[in-house]
Amino acid sequence: MLSKRSQTLGESLTLAITALANDLKAKGEDVLSFSAGEPDFDTPQIIKEAAIKAIEQGCGKYTAVAGLPSVLEAVQFKLKNDNGLSYETSEIITNVGAKHSLFECIQCLVEEGDEVIIPVPFWVSYPEMVKYSGAKPIFVYTDEKNGFKMTADELKNAITSKTKILMLNSPSNPVGSVYTKDELKALAKVLEGTNIIVLSDEMYEKLCYDDFKFHAFASVSEDALKRTVTINGLSKCAAMPGWRFGYMASKNKELNAAVKRLQGQSTSNICSITQHAATAALLGKANEDVEKMRIEFQKRRDKACELLSKIDTISFYKPEGAFYLFINISKLQKDSMKFCQQLLEQKKVAVVPGVGFGMDGYFRFSYATSMDNIIKGIERISDFIQNYKA
Ligand SMILES: Cc1ncc(COP(=O)(O)O)c(C=O)c1O
Repeated sequence: MLSKRSQTLGESLTLAITALANDLKAKGEDVLSFSAGEPDFDTPQIIKEAAIKAIEQGCGKYTAVAGLPSVLEAVQFKLKNDNGLSYETSEIITNVGAKHSLFECIQCLVEEGDEVIIPVPFWVSYPEMVKYSGAKPIFVYTDEKNGFKMTADELKNAITSKTKILMLNSPSNPVGSVYTKDELKALAKVLEGTNIIVLSDEMYEKLCYDDFKFHAFASVSEDALKRTVTINGLSKCAAMPGWRFGYMASKNKELNAAVKRLQGQSTSNICSITQHAATAALLGKANEDVEKMRIEFQKRRDKACELLSKIDTISFYKPEGAFYLFINISKLQKDSMKFCQQLLEQKKVAVVPGVGFGMDGYFRFSYATSMDNIIKGIERISDFIQNYKA
């Protein structure tokens, strides 16, 4: 009854674990959840007000598929101001979240016989989107010591005549590592002379800690700018996950036209109210709130790292960005699903098994929750691990 394509799609493990934890909570269990992929902060007031004003002024009509001129100009401003990138508004398309930007690009670019390079661990949706297109995900296993960042040599070894896309994510989910400018330049150099398109997922851009600076892949060279689709959104960095706002910017005219056709025949424009709210965020009106959120995340990261480093059977890479820790439990248990189920059942702590990110023997701990929860949760994890029998 179903198409072969739709049968290849797996369920999102992150959403599944969150649902399970919510079920237990609804039954009155004292569950502490560290599975969230979204900030626990509310959307800044100034963004809400922009939406309310737009509703009152009657913004409820269809807009152009790519978005209103005002929101496209706001994205253009943001990319220039924050990243030093110059795009025409005709090179920008707004989408229903960055997930949708990625999905549309992949569906428009690849098909059976094509290869897409995905560094492991990856954000859960990348391989599923690639498989849905008919193309083949090529997994590149990276080194934990290096924050699981793909090196130029690893990239070089993965490229074949069939490679069409490289998926890049910095700051990364699930590790929280951030590529330095030199690391990005080294990757860009390997790609020179190829037709490979980079989908650069920059969702966690504003959540970088200490002295770590974010660099957009398209900003590292002229060649990188031409081959990159810069993908970003406001779910994480403006606490707007439910508003569903993402965007893509690309110099590739053919791709932009194809995405507009696909979007025009499926979702049409994104929610018009969201476009007005996003405009306020992109113009920097909520920057103070975003900075407060970033500072709070940094404090939580520091606390979580301090407490977790006291458990000597586990290890982790101290993240430079995002709001996750990717914790190595392979000395205790290779089967991450089993470990996470036991942890949820026995200690009522929800974390996401590494297998969902392509790496068993790990789990992802999200610190997008209160400091109190983090302290209590790590106490429970520590207790669980001390008495752990595989
Ligand atoms: C790395 C990464 N990319 C993209 C997304 C999608 O974000 P959205 O569709 O909410 O804009 C997420 C959300 O979890 C993510 O972690």
